[in-house]
Amino acid sequence: MCGIFAYAGQSTAAADMILDGLRRLEYRGYDSWGWPSATMAASSPRSRWVKSAARPSICLRVRQASAIPAGRRMGASPSKMPTHTRIVPAGSPSSITASLRNHDELRREVLASGKHDFHSETDTEVVVHLLEDALAQREDQPEAVVDAVREVFNRLEGMNAIMVLDSRADTLVAVKNGSPLVVGYGAGSNYIASDAAALLPHTKKVTFLSDGEMVVLSPDGVLTTSVVSGELRQPEITELDWDVEIAELGDYPHYLIKEIHEQPAIVRSIALTQGELAQKLADMVRDSFGTFFIGCGTAGNAALTGQYLFSRIAQHHVNFEVGSEFGYLEHFLTPRSLVIALSQSGETIDVIEPLVRAKKEKGIQIAALVNVLGSTLYRLADFDVLLNAGPEKCVLATKSYTAKLAVLTLTAYAMDGRLEEGKELLLGAADLIEEQLNEQQKAHIAELADRIYEAEDMFVIGRGLSYAASLEAALKIKEVSYIHAEGFPGGELKHGVIALIEPGTPCVVFAPNDETRGGILSGAQELKARGAYIIGVSPEPSDAFDYHIRVGDAGDASPIVNAVPAQLLAYNLSLKRGTDPDKPRNLAKSVTVK
Ligand code: AGP
Repeated sequence: MCGIFAYAGQSTAAADMILDGLRRLEYRGYDSWGWPSATMAASSPRSRWVKSAARPSICLRVRQASAIPAGRRMGASPSKMPTHTRIVPAGSPSSITASLRNHDELRREVLASGKHDFHSETDTEVVVHLLEDALAQREDQPEAVVDAVREVFNRLEGMNAIMVLDSRADTLVAVKNGSPLVVGYGAGSNYIASDAAALLPHTKKVTFLSDGEMVVLSPDGVLTTSVVSGELRQPEITELDWDVEIAELGDYPHYLIKEIHEQPAIVRSIALTQGELAQKLADMVRDSFGTFFIGCGTAGNAALTGQYLFSRIAQHHVNFEVGSEFGYLEHFLTPRSLVIALSQSGETIDVIEPLVRAKKEKGIQIAALVNVLGSTLYRLADFDVLLNAGPEKCVLATKSYTAKLAVLTLTAYAMDGRLEEGKELLLGAADLIEEQLNEQQKAHIAELADRIYEAEDMFVIGRGLSYAASLEAALKIKEVSYIHAEGFPGGELKHGVIALIEPGTPCVVFAPNDETRGGILSGAQELKARGAYIIGVSPEPSDAFDYHIRVGDAGDASPIVNAVPAQLLAYNLSLKRGTDPDKPRNLAKSVTVK
C-alpha cells in the first residue's frame, strides 16, 4: 500500500510542503518513504532518491541533519516533487510488497531482456524499468512520457497508483487503478495526494480520480484524459467542506482521545441532518429482496449491530457478514439484492472486491455508509450516506463507528415509520455520551486502567444489541493495548470460554436496562464465581460488579453510548502500557491489500 504526495508549483518551501504532506498521510499506516530529491528543480533535473525507513514526522524533526534538501536551497524554477510512502503488509520494510498481480511475470520479462538490474524487492520497481524501455522507443516524441505511462499502465494488473515526473516537460503524470488519488487545485500550483486530508492546508478544490483516468499536472493546469483512449475528460471538481483544523490535534495529546471527544457533536449532527437519507435507505431496504450488511473490523461490528437494530426496531430481517467472507456467500444474490457496505475509508479491499464482483456478475444494488467522500466505495455505490464524521486520523475507528451506529439506528426507526422518534433518541444519546466525557468519569475509567493494565487476557460479554458492542470493545482494547481481549455473547460462556477464566481476569460486562440484563448478570455471577474481576458497564449497579462504570440508559441507542467507556478504557490502557494510541503496531488505517 502506498501513499503519494506531489506538488507542481513555484514555492521555494516545496521540500517542507512535501514532507508535511507525507506526515498528513502517515496515519494511513506507512513505515518508510522516499523521494527523488534533486528532481525538485527543473533546472537540475537529475534525480537521486532519498529513502528512509522512518516515519515522515520523525524525518521532519531531523531534517536539518539529514540528506533531505531544504526548500530554501531550491531554485525559484517550477518544482515538481513526487514522493511516496509505503507499507509492507508483512515483514520488514525491505521485504517484498506486491499489489501488482502480474508482478512476477513482468519482472521475469524485464530480467530476461538483460537490460536492467533490480535495486529493490518492491513490486513497483518493475514499473520503472518498463517505463524506461517504453521511453527509449519514443525518444524525442513530444508526448513521450505520457504515451509511455499509458502503455505501461495498461499492462499492469492489480491495484496501483502511479505518478511519474517528466523533468523535460515540467509535468507530473499520474494514473490509478483501485488505489485512491486526489488532485488538488491551487493558484499557480497543483497537487496530487492519496488522500484529500493531505491537501487541506493548500486547497479544498479537488477531483477524486476515477480508475483509468490519467492526469498531467503542471503549475498552470491539470489535463485529464482516459488512459485507454487518450480522449479528454471533464474532471468533476468537488469543494471539500472540511476545515484544516479538523485534521489537526489542537490541544489534545492524541488523535484517539480527540476523536472520542468529537462523538457527541457527530451523533447530534446525524440526528439533525441525515433523516432524509435514512428514510431513503430504509425505503431501499423495504423494496429489496434480501439485504446484506457487510464491513470489516469495527465497520463489521457496526454492521452486526445493524442486524439487531433492524430486528428489534423495525421487525425486519437483514443479513450480516464480514466483508472478507461475503464473497463466499454471493450465490444467493440477485439484481434485487441490496448490499449495504459500511466502511470509514471506503477503500477496504475485503469489502470492495466482493462488491465489485457481485455488482458485475449478479447486478446487485449497493448502498454505502462511508466517511470518505470520493473514495472507491463512495463511487461504486448506487446510494451513499456520507457519515460526515470528519477525517479520522487515529488508526482506531471511534467516531466513524458511532456515526455508523447512529445512521443505522435512524434508518431502522425510519423503516418503522418513527423517524422523528429516532432523531430524539439520538439527540438524547449525544447528551449521554457527553456525560461519559466529563472529567470525573474519565478519571474513573483511568483508575480502572490503573488497576488492570498488567492483565494478559480480558473478556467482554454482552447479549442482543450489546453482543456486537462486546466485540467492538474487545477489538479496541486489543488493537491499542496489545492485551489479548475477546468479546463474545454472554450465553456462550458455558460453552467453552469460561475455561479460560482465572482469579483476577478482568471481564467487562455490558448490562443495559433491556431484556438482556437478567441473563448477562447471571453470566457475570458465573465469571465472578471463578474469580474474574467484573467491570459492569450499566445504568444500574449490581452485586456482580467489582467495578461499576455508570452509563445513562440510552434504550435502543445503548450500543452508541456504551462504545464510549470502552474506547476510553482502551485509550487509558494504551497510556499505561506505553503503546502508541494513534498508530498501533502492524495496523494500517486503510487496508487496501488482501
Ligand atoms: C478499527 O479500529 C480498525 N482499525 C479496523 O478494524 C477497521 O475498522 C477496518 O480495517 C475497516 O476499515 P474501514 O472502516 O475503513 O473499511
